[in-house]
Amino acid sequence: MNRILSSILIGTLCLSCTNSGDFKVDTALSYCVNQVDSTLNVLETYDAIPRNISNDAPTKAWKCTSVHDWTSGFWPGILWYAYEYTQDKRLLVESEAFSTALYPVLDRKVTHHDLGFMMYCSLGNGYRLTGNPEYKQMLLRTADSLSVLYNPVVGTINSWPNECRKKGWPHNTIIDNMLNLELLFWASKNGGGQRFYDIAESHAEVTMKNQFREDYSTCHVVVYDTISGERIKQVTHQGYADSSMWARGQGWAIYGFTMCYRETGRKDFLDIAQKAAEIYLKNLPEDKVPFWDFDDPAIPNAPRDASAAALVASALLELSQYVDKSESQYYISEATKMLESLSSEQYQSRDKNYAFLLHSTGHKPHGYEIDASIIYADYYYIEALLRWKKINEGKDLFE
Ligand code: GLY
Repeated sequence: MNRILSSILIGTLCLSCTNSGDFKVDTALSYCVNQVDSTLNVLETYDAIPRNISNDAPTKAWKCTSVHDWTSGFWPGILWYAYEYTQDKRLLVESEAFSTALYPVLDRKVTHHDLGFMMYCSLGNGYRLTGNPEYKQMLLRTADSLSVLYNPVVGTINSWPNECRKKGWPHNTIIDNMLNLELLFWASKNGGGQRFYDIAESHAEVTMKNQFREDYSTCHVVVYDTISGERIKQVTHQGYADSSMWARGQGWAIYGFTMCYRETGRKDFLDIAQKAAEIYLKNLPEDKVPFWDFDDPAIPNAPRDASAAALVASALLELSQYVDKSESQYYISEATKMLESLSSEQYQSRDKNYAFLLHSTGHKPHGYEIDASIIYADYYYIEALLRWKKINEGKDLFE
């Protein structure tokens, strides 16, 4: 599908800037909108979706991926956030076009848990902002598809059936899977029925029991037995070691359990989110952007992961809404420091490429996306900036 290149530039935003030290939220958001505009001006089709830009790429443009890649929802999600901020009609048109381009995802056999990331970050934001009934139907279909991977004996969604086949595992659940539960909670409240709520709650409960270690760090993958439902082992896939704290994985835990508290009101989910946050925050380097894995012996010469910093900043801003005043101030202050760092010359891509951020790490053990710009870092960065602005203006985070 060819898309029409638009020459309309998104105007310079004239907004009152909110200051906190060096951090100006509207300056950062306007920067994101300008980077989005640069990308829109070079993308040629709606079914090639930005994924990454390596740090030595000869071009400023994104390397794109198919709509079937697990990351395909983040670019449309970024467009929805940019539209939410600017109310620019051209961004609305682009958000809609890149979101509807994902529909074919639902025509394939379900082979992984990432449907929630793909469809909720895109169509979920689209539905929140427009109420389009077509998005609602597609989201309900997605929840139905995702639920196929739920195993009632284990009580969780099977994250990677293909990995199970390759490794001879009966069932596996990865910590990232927590994020996909948001779609199920949404579906339950939007005509899908109690079944989706029950699956999401069970998944979170079983994950809480099995994915954490005594110090509240998480492992990436738990392998389960499907006869007894018991945990067989904790291993890693993208982290440094089975026993290490992979930074983004810990971020998924903080974000996921905070969201599960929002949806269920269960105090144990809030407690575990806070404990996951505590060990993460305690071990951060001074600039609050983690090394890709907290236990890589190469630290301080290991790569950072700006994507973890962005998603944790966003999660802490939500967490700050559910705790007492002093804890709330602490989480907001930590998130602000993260956003200050990410908004600095050190981490923003600026003229180097069309992404928002540099220095993320996708899959270090596979040597893939190391110290790169990655689309989900940008998604959680703009989400965190909008959350920060809403909190500062006394607004609801999810309106
Ligand atoms: N969900 C895959 C990742 O975090 O890299």
